[in-house]
Amino acid sequence: MLAASGSAVGLGNIWRFPYVAGENGGGAFVCVYLLSVLLLGLPIVVSEILLGRCGQRNPVDTMRVLAERSGHVRAWSLVGWMGLAAGLLILSFYSVVAGWLLHYLFLDLIVGMQDMTKAGALAAWEHLLSSPGRLLLWHSVFLVLSGGVVALGVQNGLERMVKVLMPLLLGMLLLMVGYALRTSGFSSAMAYLFKPDFSALGASGMLAAMGQAFFSLSIGLGVIMAYGAYLPREVPLPRAAGWIVGVDTLVALLAGIAIFPLVFSHGLEPGGGPGLIFQTLPLAFAQMPLGSAFALLFFGLLLIAAWTSSVSLLEPSVAFLVENTRLKRLPATVVLCLLPFLLGIGCLLSLNVWEATFFELSFFDFLDYLTANVMLPLGGLFIAVFAGWFLKREMLARELEGTSLWVRRTWLFLARWMAPLGVLVLFLYQLGVFGA
Ligand code: TRP
Repeated sequence: MLAASGSAVGLGNIWRFPYVAGENGGGAFVCVYLLSVLLLGLPIVVSEILLGRCGQRNPVDTMRVLAERSGHVRAWSLVGWMGLAAGLLILSFYSVVAGWLLHYLFLDLIVGMQDMTKAGALAAWEHLLSSPGRLLLWHSVFLVLSGGVVALGVQNGLERMVKVLMPLLLGMLLLMVGYALRTSGFSSAMAYLFKPDFSALGASGMLAAMGQAFFSLSIGLGVIMAYGAYLPREVPLPRAAGWIVGVDTLVALLAGIAIFPLVFSHGLEPGGGPGLIFQTLPLAFAQMPLGSAFALLFFGLLLIAAWTSSVSLLEPSVAFLVENTRLKRLPATVVLCLLPFLLGIGCLLSLNVWEATFFELSFFDFLDYLTANVMLPLGGLFIAVFAGWFLKREMLARELEGTSLWVRRTWLFLARWMAPLGVLVLFLYQLGVFGA
């Protein structure tokens, strides 16, 4: 469970949630996000843990074995394959973003945050983005950090830190919220985040909200499935799922509440894009007593959160290679890191010198869109459908033993109908099937 929450809480909550919410107009986005978490995310988390505990393998083999045992085609393992691919694709840009964090940590150590002004913060951000060399350096450092943990197989050590660091991160977020509470932009920020205006959202905003829910919860590619294999039978499934979903959503909402007041009191753009937290947080640290120390703590904790998440993106592929080939962990990790390394270079160049577009998106945005808004929901759909409709009845019953009847019924309804139809409807809506 520690590992699963370590995977879920990461850049998705603190970096991605505020910036995507800001790009999609706030309140209505948050509303659809919360609905997606509850109605689609929660049943899929349960499905993943259930399948993982039942299959006891990496996602590809779990899907294959369970399909065979339930008397269905082996092709279900394709869901696992897509998951492995999505994990490596996400890692490509995730590592670039985590690299930004390293840069800001370094900046804080060298010059501190005390002299940060609005113009200075914007300039520091632009300066970082315009320098491919610097981006490449930090991207590489982060990938080595993540690959290192996976290659050495010391995930457990890292995950044990989660127990201490997660409460600390929550504490830091509360502190930032406390600071935000006293800024002039607080009430406008609250109205922005929690007063939905659905006219501004549209199909792409709704899809983005669903994608954010999947990304933040780490669902749709079999990561939670891989960790589900380790969940002891005594722990009731719904409780484990509820815990992961609750913590993850809490962290995202707190991040939003901490950041948007800064955006409004400094007259910044809510839709300012991926740099949003890097343009706002330094301004808060500049005005706090001991600000540079807090910045160090905050960015450091976020870095470790990103680290545990990135490990979870890489681990399933490495496990698959090690279990199915003669490769050892180290070479398997090196081989698999090559793809995110190279694609990550594409991502970071697309932030400055590389102007090619893919479906009108930069390479960075394209990878983000493809994984969060397409691959994860699709993977989640198949996982829910498999668990709800195809898994053999006896296996299902055994996994759900000890949960109350209404919990089982609710889950079954959500996994069978709500999750697949919800994803499908949003896909079709985005494709324009329901008219303009
Ligand atoms: N959920 C992580 C975050 O919020 C990112 C992540 C880790 C992820 N593993 C995943 C996203 C698997 C989707 C699938 O930062």
